[in-house]
Amino acid sequence: MITVSKDKTFALTNAHFSYVFRVSPEGILEHLHYGGPLRDPLDVAVHHLRTQREVASNFQGGPYFSLADTPQEFPSFGTSDYRFPALHGRNSDGNTVFSLHYKNYRIVKDKPRLKKLPSARGGDSETLIVTLEDPLHKLDVELYYTIYQDYGVLVRSAKFKNKGEKELQLQHAFSSALDLPPHDYEILHLHGTWSREFNEERIDVPKGRFVVDSARGTSSAAHNPFIAIVEKGTTEDYGAVHATTLMYSGNFSLSVEKGEFEAVRLLAGINPFNFHWRLKPGKKFCTPEALHVYSDKGLRSMSHIWHEFVRDKISPERFRHKPRPTYLNTWEAAYFDVDEDKVLHLADKAKEIGVDMLVLDDGWFEGRRDDTSSLGDWTADEERFPNGIPALAAKVKAKGLKFGIWFEPEMVNPKSKLFEQHPDWILHVPGRKPSLGRNQLTLDLSRPEIIDYLYGQIDDILSCGDIDYVKWDMNRNMTEVGSAGLPKNRQREVSHRYMLGLYDLLRRLVKKYPDILFENCASGGNRFDLGMLSYMAQNWTSDMCDPIGRLDIINGCSYLFPLDVTAAYIGPSPNHQNGRVSSVETRFNAGAFCAARGISLNEDDIDAHKDQLQSLMAFAKDSAGDFVGGRFDRLIKSKNEVCWQYTSRDERTVYLAYFHIFAAPNLPFRRARMVGLEADADYMLVEDGSRYAGDALIQNGMPLPYVATGQVNDKVRYMAKGDFSSYLFVFKRA
Ligand code: GLA
Repeated sequence: MITVSKDKTFALTNAHFSYVFRVSPEGILEHLHYGGPLRDPLDVAVHHLRTQREVASNFQGGPYFSLADTPQEFPSFGTSDYRFPALHGRNSDGNTVFSLHYKNYRIVKDKPRLKKLPSARGGDSETLIVTLEDPLHKLDVELYYTIYQDYGVLVRSAKFKNKGEKELQLQHAFSSALDLPPHDYEILHLHGTWSREFNEERIDVPKGRFVVDSARGTSSAAHNPFIAIVEKGTTEDYGAVHATTLMYSGNFSLSVEKGEFEAVRLLAGINPFNFHWRLKPGKKFCTPEALHVYSDKGLRSMSHIWHEFVRDKISPERFRHKPRPTYLNTWEAAYFDVDEDKVLHLADKAKEIGVDMLVLDDGWFEGRRDDTSSLGDWTADEERFPNGIPALAAKVKAKGLKFGIWFEPEMVNPKSKLFEQHPDWILHVPGRKPSLGRNQLTLDLSRPEIIDYLYGQIDDILSCGDIDYVKWDMNRNMTEVGSAGLPKNRQREVSHRYMLGLYDLLRRLVKKYPDILFENCASGGNRFDLGMLSYMAQNWTSDMCDPIGRLDIINGCSYLFPLDVTAAYIGPSPNHQNGRVSSVETRFNAGAFCAARGISLNEDDIDAHKDQLQSLMAFAKDSAGDFVGGRFDRLIKSKNEVCWQYTSRDERTVYLAYFHIFAAPNLPFRRARMVGLEADADYMLVEDGSRYAGDALIQNGMPLPYVATGQVNDKVRYMAKGDFSSYLFVFKRA
C-alpha cells in the first residue's frame, strides 16, 4: 500500500486510488497525483514547473521555482505562494512567515487514533507520517496519511509541535491540503437551514475562493461539512470525483481556491476565522481528521465508498448492521404535555400497533411546560412523573417495549435551578448580555467541571439500567463565545475547547453505556457530521417530517451518509412544519429506507389509521434487518419525481420507492433503470408474484406506476390519485 523511493517519492496505492507526492529538490513536499490507481505509482512524470513566469516570486531566491504554481502537500504563506495556506499564524519573531521543509518520515502498521478527537478506526491499514519542519521557528508539522486495503477513503490529519522555547500561535491549522491540477471542475455541496437541510448545489469552480464553513459552534445545517470537486458533467454513473469531509462537529472550513494558474486547492480543517491557538513550548496541537474519497465512476460509486467506510470504520461498532427498533416518539404526539399516565397510555397504543420502543421526548424534567424553562435541571418533574423516570422506564419495559429518553445536556434556560446556582457556567463575554436562542443559553463545555457535572446528571438517569435509547439534542447556535474558565489571551480557543469537552463527555458516556443506542440531534440536522456519528449510531435526520420536504433531505444526506444512520417517523397531517396534507402511506414511504422508522402521532390519529399503521410497522419490523448495511441508490431526481432503490446486504431483497409530487394529466410512462442487480437472476415482485429478469430491470428498467387522473384500467399499475403519491415495490431474488 505505501511505497517510498530512494529519492523520496511517496506513494499510497490500493485498488481504488493512488496518492503520490515527493520531496522536491528544494525540500518542499510536492503533490504529484491523486486519482485512479497506478501500476507503478512511483513512476509519475513530474510536471516541469521550473519555468520563469512573468511577475512570479522565486522561492528563496532560487531560479525558476515559485510556490505560486507548485502543487503542495501543506502550503504556508509568505514565501512566494499567495493562495490561502494550510498553516498560518504568528511565529517566535512575531511575523507570520513560516516555511516548512521535509525532515523525515515513518510508516506505521495500522492507524494511530487521535486521543481527544474522534477518529476513524484502523484495521488492514497503513499510515505514513511525514514530518516537516520550520527550523527557524522550531515548529514541526507531522502529516498523517492512512490508506486501507479495502476502502477508497484516505484519512489525513496534521499534528503541530512546538519544539522551541518561545510561544507560537496558530491561526490556520488545517487538517489537509489538496492541490488538484487545472481542469474543468464543478463543486457539489450541501446547504440548508432548520427543517431544510442537505440541499444540493452544483456550481462551476469559480476563479477566486469558494468556502463552505461554520462559525456557529456546530458543523451546522447551513453547510454540511462535505464538498465534492467533480469533473464537469459528472453524473451518478460517470465522472471523476474528489470528495472530502471533516470529522468534526464544530467550526469547520472547506475552502476551494482556483488561483491565477487555474490549479484548484482544497483545504479542509478547523475554520481559521475566529480561531487562534497558543502553542506553548513543548506542546502539541492535533487537527481533526479530513477524509478524502476519489472515484472515477461518478457520484453513486462515491456514495457507496463513503457508506461502507462510515459503517465499518466510524459508526459505533456495536450497532453495525444491527436492525433498529421501530418506535413511537412523544414529540409530535403530545409536545410538552406529557405525564406518566399519558406516556403509559401511548405505550399501550405503541404496543397495539406493534412498535418496539417508546421514546419520551422533551418535557419530562422539573418544571418543563414549554421551551422557556428548566433545561439544565435533569430530574423528573415531580408533579407529572411522581414516580421518577426509572419507575416509568420499568413500567414501559414491563409492557414488552424498549424505552428511550430525550436530553439536551449542553444547554441551560435562564429560568432554571442550574442557572441560578451557576450563572457563569454559560458561554459569555464580560459586559455583554448573552443572546438567547430558543430561550436558552449554551453551557461552557470547555470547562472540565461542567463536563463532570453533566456526566453525573446523565449517569444518574441512565444507571437505572432500563434505558435503551437516548436522543441527544442541541437546539441553538452559539453566540458570545467566551469562557470564564480561560484567560483573556485564550478566548479564541473556546470553540475548539468546547468540542474537546463535548467529545470527552460523549466518550465517557458511551464507554459506560455501550448498549444504549444514542441518537444525535441538533434541531434535526444542525450537527450531522462524522464527529458526532462516531459516538452515536443514529442521527435524527431533520425536523421536517413532511414526506415531500423529506425527499431532498434524504437525497442530499445520502451523498455522504449511509441511511443506516438516519431515522424518520410518520408525523401528523397536516404536517406541523409546512402544513402539507399527505397520506400515511407517502409519509411512511419517504422514510422507508431510513434504518430507524416509527411514528409520532397522538392517540386519535393512531386510532384513525390503526390498521394501516399496524401493517406499516409490521413491514418496518420485518424489513429492519435489510435497512442496515445494504446499498442505497439514487435513481431519479427531478422537480416532480424521485426514485430510490435499496438492496439488502444479502442482495436477496430489493426495494424501489417512487414518489410523484404534483399530479398532472397525460403523463409519460416512466421506467426506472435499476442498478447493482444480478443480471442472470430473476426477481419476483412480492405484491403479485410477477417475475422480472435482472438484466431487463437493469437495461430496460422497471415500469413505474401511473398517477391516476382519468379513467383507470387493470392493465396499468396506478398510484393514488392526486398530489404527493408514492409507491413502494419489494422484489425478492428468485
Ligand atoms: C428539537 C428536535 C425535536 C424535538 C424538540 C424537543 O427541535 O429536533 O425532534 O426533540 O427539539 O424540544
